[in-house]
Amino acid sequence: MDQIEQDNKQKSIFMTDYTRTFEAKDKYLLIPIEDQAVENKVQLSVEGNPVGEPMTIRIAQNKIDYWMPIDIEAYKGKKVTLTFAIAKTTDIGLAEIKQSAEYNFNYNEKYRPSYHFTPQYGWMNDPNGMVYLDGVYHLFFQYNPYGARWGNIHWGYAISKDLVNWQYQPTAIAPDKLGAIFSGSAVIDHDNTAGFGKGAMIAIYTSAGERQTQSIAYSLDGGKTFTKYEGNPVLTDANIIDFRDPKVFWHAPSKQWVMSLATTQTITFYGSKNLKEWTRLSEFGEGLGGHGGVWECPDLFPLTYEGKTKWVLFVSINPGGPNGGSATQYFIGNFDGKTFTPDTMNYPLWLDYGRDNYAGVTWSNVPATDGRRLFIGWMSNWDYANEIPTVNFRSAMTVARTLRLAHNGEHLVVTSEPVKELESLRREAVLLGDKTRTNTSDAIAFENFLPNNQGAYELTFTVTPNETDSFSFALENAKGETIKYLFNGATKTLSVDRSKSSVGFNANFAETLIKAPMVAKKSYTVRLLVDKASTELFVNNGEVVQTNTVFPTEVYNTLRFNTSKGTLTLNDITVYKLK
Ligand code: FRU
Repeated sequence: MDQIEQDNKQKSIFMTDYTRTFEAKDKYLLIPIEDQAVENKVQLSVEGNPVGEPMTIRIAQNKIDYWMPIDIEAYKGKKVTLTFAIAKTTDIGLAEIKQSAEYNFNYNEKYRPSYHFTPQYGWMNDPNGMVYLDGVYHLFFQYNPYGARWGNIHWGYAISKDLVNWQYQPTAIAPDKLGAIFSGSAVIDHDNTAGFGKGAMIAIYTSAGERQTQSIAYSLDGGKTFTKYEGNPVLTDANIIDFRDPKVFWHAPSKQWVMSLATTQTITFYGSKNLKEWTRLSEFGEGLGGHGGVWECPDLFPLTYEGKTKWVLFVSINPGGPNGGSATQYFIGNFDGKTFTPDTMNYPLWLDYGRDNYAGVTWSNVPATDGRRLFIGWMSNWDYANEIPTVNFRSAMTVARTLRLAHNGEHLVVTSEPVKELESLRREAVLLGDKTRTNTSDAIAFENFLPNNQGAYELTFTVTPNETDSFSFALENAKGETIKYLFNGATKTLSVDRSKSSVGFNANFAETLIKAPMVAKKSYTVRLLVDKASTELFVNNGEVVQTNTVFPTEVYNTLRFNTSKGTLTLNDITVYKLK
């Protein structure tokens, strides 16, 4: 041990209940965070009285990676104290905590998407409580306002008129004595069944404390403020540990609210007349579909196919996805108000075979005049979500998507495609035209296909393979980084190779081919949305979908097609700059 180490060791003394007190004068207390520091339990108090639940904060120990704000505006002129359950004398962040009139959330991050929803700062996971009301789409989400890793789970909040441009709103629901605010849904209570008021927006979520229980909160001002129901929790179970993520809808034929709830590795359905008292209806899923991990975030909703109503059940599962880690499977069947009966199909079926579309569910209360089933997912994977190479925020949502039922030539599938509103982002179209690759070993390459490429674009084309059933296309940059899409009609697989796509940050990120089943067709229509750190691939109108994040050191600006034999006919190759 050298002298400095020895000195440090001596200086590093543990303290309990270490406090820092400020006379509040500015809007914020700024807390220096070290991304990988240990979690510290921190209580905020005002004039000696605790406010809110203790926070877990990774206070900087050795270096400051970024700052997080605690809003203290309401306490101006008062004594505000932070009490750290445990601290070390050598934790450099303790002395650096300061007041500030501003919080600069913008760290000019390379991987901040330009048209995908991200939290302004802090950590985000699942989309929650999605509901449409009077021209506004509401999006709540699992949110940590005190750090860019999972923890302190609140419901963050944003609204949009077009599912494309989002406005941040203050955090909607904060943890309480019953626990953190885990995933859930929101409904509009048109008939005042719960008694909170006609047209109340009611959030149904999991209180994650020592046990997981279901709670409700209502808003009478269109989502701006929520009041928690004093009778919470409204649904408990003495035995089930993983008991969460309530998704509720009004089932008109049986005149009741129906809740789908993840119960370990099944979905249990509950019914209620008033959102407060729930009775168990049935349980689904034992021995069916993927069971490689815990079941989470269910959603049960109708879609029509050839004029007939079918019911679709989404179940997210982690781990156990088709390509490792987190993914969303689905079942197609019927629902009679009590029981979900799946059609006989080759389960598991997956909504998106990419590695980065998890915990997605659909909007409630979308008007019948619109008629769409609208979806958004969390564009990450629990395998590496906490390590992605961003600084003071983590994760984005997928683009909002429209879901439909379609026949892929072999069986029914739930297709997903970007909502039509997304086309409003198209700024410039570059027509790369039509091209047929002749029978040589040369690839068809479009170098520098987009002038002034900022990494946010959409690529569309139709590809027809001639005398071959396998071909590929790739996006590349000058650093040799590439993401490759491999179509194989013989093995009926569409694989994504992102092993050389990105900077290294987690061994689990890029190791293997990401495979999706694909029905071989004469031609394939391809639509690929790229946004700084993500790629969303939709083939044949969303029959095959692959959402995969990427972290290239510079933008991909070369498009290269390849086939080992035969030729490729490429039609209408178009690149749109987005936003
Ligand atoms: C899914 C999930 C949910 C849970 C939430 C906690 O990603 O694990 O089951 O409610 O995240 O943040």
